[in-house]
Amino acid sequence: MEKRGAQRERIIELLEHEGGVSEEAVRAVHKATGVPEADIWGTGLFYSLIAKPGKRLRVCDGLTCQMFGADELAKQLAESGKEVERVSCLGQCDRAPATLAEDMQLVTYEKNKRDVTPANDLLPMNLAGPMDRSYRMLQKSIAMSPDKIFEELEKSGLQGRGGAGFPAHFKWRSVANQPETVRYVVCNADESEPGTFKDREVILRQPHKLLEGLCIAATAVGAKDIFIYIRGEFTNEIKVLRAAVAESANLIGDLTITIATGHGAYICGEETALLESLEGRRGMPRLKPPYPTEKGFRNKPTLMHNVETAACVPAIIERGGEWFKAQGKTEAGTKLYCVSGHVNRPGVYELPLGVTLDEVVEASGGYVGTPMAFSPGGASSGFLPIKFRDLPLDYKSLQGVGSMLGSSGVVVLNDTIDMAQAARWQQIFFERESCGQCAPCRLGTRYIRRQLDSMMNDRDPTALEFVDDVGWEMEEGSICGLGMIAHKPLESARRYFPEAFIPKQK
Ligand SMILES: Cc1cc2nc3c(=O)[nH]c(=O)nc-3n(C[C@H](O)[C@H](O)[C@H](O)COP(=O)(O)O)c2cc1C
Ligand code: SF4
Repeated sequence: MEKRGAQRERIIELLEHEGGVSEEAVRAVHKATGVPEADIWGTGLFYSLIAKPGKRLRVCDGLTCQMFGADELAKQLAESGKEVERVSCLGQCDRAPATLAEDMQLVTYEKNKRDVTPANDLLPMNLAGPMDRSYRMLQKSIAMSPDKIFEELEKSGLQGRGGAGFPAHFKWRSVANQPETVRYVVCNADESEPGTFKDREVILRQPHKLLEGLCIAATAVGAKDIFIYIRGEFTNEIKVLRAAVAESANLIGDLTITIATGHGAYICGEETALLESLEGRRGMPRLKPPYPTEKGFRNKPTLMHNVETAACVPAIIERGGEWFKAQGKTEAGTKLYCVSGHVNRPGVYELPLGVTLDEVVEASGGYVGTPMAFSPGGASSGFLPIKFRDLPLDYKSLQGVGSMLGSSGVVVLNDTIDMAQAARWQQIFFERESCGQCAPCRLGTRYIRRQLDSMMNDRDPTALEFVDDVGWEMEEGSICGLGMIAHKPLESARRYFPEAFIPKQK
């Protein structure tokens, strides 16, 4: 059953229904909700999918898409008379360069390929396996006490798969222990970071594992209402999810599942920005504490999880925490690695957590050309040189070398890529996606990209003199993770590939 709360929470959806932000649309939404027009303008203009009404082609600017000729593609499309918008990330790096048609359907080019791990019953997510619609594990969990569920989760060692790797059982216990009895479960399906497209495959291939995991979580923490916030560009995934929610209706008792769509703002993947957006405001991160587990959606205790985290839960209930833990190599469980760039079969591979780059690439058909660098976990993780090919791709090991597993969006770059250009593409992403509420992030992301342009275009040898100082200020003075790590691509590329940053002679 789909249900929305206060009038305020409806304004973004209503604006979308009206075709985007325009004088008439804002007036109509004001009439329907009573929210002041200025407020509706301010909110609507924040979201790229509704800020500019009109049909156009959307060409992805993400790292992998740029490596595979997105600029040239956009130019050709524009020259053929199409209206083209460049967008930050379409979550389709395995089909680079990705384009969304005017009707928001993905344009499929001949060379687009994608793959997943072959079916295997012993994989917790088993993306290529049969869909289980029985909700047997939800029934089993209802018969267990919440404490027993938390214990199993603790034994499993499950860490949040959204990026931070925070132990899941802590958050479940924290929500369950709040004195407030109205609690929510929210699923983060915003997946918008270049390099990342794993949640997409879970939703398309195993939506019931996700829903069942969320229902088990709601039962254990004492929540009735579940919200799934899914990025708006995932039109097919939204359809699949809606169908799965309808199919689950008779199997989930009095739990409700509501699907809310995002509207083109990467920052809404940050948990508190997501909550702001769900509540009908600009997706600007909140100061923490309080954490969502204490005061989250509608100011109530909220358990938020990434799609992959929730989809691991049914297997933990079925086979036990210890079994799940043992599936990992250096850390607990399996991991969905999204692999793109210079590999033969880009796709999503479920592998033991802690495999190396070479192992991940072996699963994805081998390297194309001579590998030079890789980005192990989305734009936020920066770049590592190929000498780290034997490092376990887990939370701890990557942190140890100043990177992170993040969203496990592994992008492989061979020696045909200019590392200064690769860093520039990532910096453009952060500049564009900064929500702008804190000065170090708003100004710093712009400064770094401009200086990089100066170095590359004007060949100014002093252009990068102060970028590390600015990066430090961003790290120290930003409210959320975006600003704290936004200098990483340039900083890591300069550290490992200094020769790429010596301005070429005119
Ligand atoms: C800028 C930014 C973007 C993020 N985007 C996502 C996202 O798209 N999906 C996601 O699950 N987590 C994302 N996160 C992490 C969330 O804030 C949060 O930690 C996560 O949803 C918690 O779920 P987990 O415990 O299952 O990892 C993002 C964080 C930051 C700072
Ligand atoms: S760090 Fe950047 S993205 Fe995060 S709240 Fe501040 S301005 Fe917004």
